[in-house]
Amino acid sequence: MTPATPLPQLAAAARAAPALPWPLPALLAWTLGWGLWLAAQALGAPAAVAGLVALGGSLALAWRCQGMWRRLLAALGFPLSAWALVPTGDWPSWLWLLLVLPLMAAYPLRAWRDAPLFPTPAGALAGLDRIVPAPASVLDAGCGLGHGLAALHAVWPQARLHGVEWSPLLARWAAWRCKAACIRRADMWATSWAGHDLVYLFQRPESMARAWAKARRDMRPGACLVSLEFAVPGQPELACLQGAGRRPVWVYRLPATTENSTGGRQGR
Ligand SMILES: C[S@@+](CC[C@H](N)C(=O)[O-])C[C@H]1O[C@@H](n2cnc3c(N)ncnc32)[C@H](O)[C@@H]1O
Repeated sequence: MTPATPLPQLAAAARAAPALPWPLPALLAWTLGWGLWLAAQALGAPAAVAGLVALGGSLALAWRCQGMWRRLLAALGFPLSAWALVPTGDWPSWLWLLLVLPLMAAYPLRAWRDAPLFPTPAGALAGLDRIVPAPASVLDAGCGLGHGLAALHAVWPQARLHGVEWSPLLARWAAWRCKAACIRRADMWATSWAGHDLVYLFQRPESMARAWAKARRDMRPGACLVSLEFAVPGQPELACLQGAGRRPVWVYRLPATTENSTGGRQGR
């Protein structure tokens, strides 16, 4: 880029840049905030000016994140950490831990690459029983607080329900809320999906190709993968439940030739 590059071209180049995997955009927004803060201080700018410049830069990058929650997390990182770490004389800076610890318990790092807590709305899976034969065993991969399990239970009250959840706080809470389900704290990618007739997901678009590959490795032919809102790229669905005011429910059936015919292997 030459210094004469007009601003609209810079903006277009930024838009065309490939999207970075989460949470890199948030880390970049926080780092830029701190970089600008240190640079402005080194140039002798007053603290208020340095703070505004740093905040502006960090917010501009945060704005480019996809989705309201990711945008919020990216936007809050610099001001919260600055508030915590830059001494004001009034509050001890370790107080920020009181804010961060519950957040980390609810939303630990490994869950960042998939989805944070967005519960399945009640009734979101209604009608699934007209498409999928009653499953004996169902897994909600990333079960959050158990709203997806409750929706599955409403459709198939006889099914054995299982949930895995990476956040220890959410896993305990879900186990307390959903006494009918067997819920454990685990990484859904490291847990075998074998033995389940249906795996349900409500994650992110980016997780869907990986979920399909895992389902093909772990699950028997004829078993189902069901995803709320997000489709598996490039795979024909068995059905998609749609309706006014409801999120689409994508239903996939595992084909007869699986990648791993033995099934049941633990793996990512
Ligand atoms: C959008 S919420 C869906 C919650 C629930 N399935 C529902 O539909 O109500 C996604 C959940 O997946 C969890 N999660 C993300 N990555 C995970 C992982 N690798 N292993 C287990 N849980 C994960 C998050 O902590 C979050 O609670």
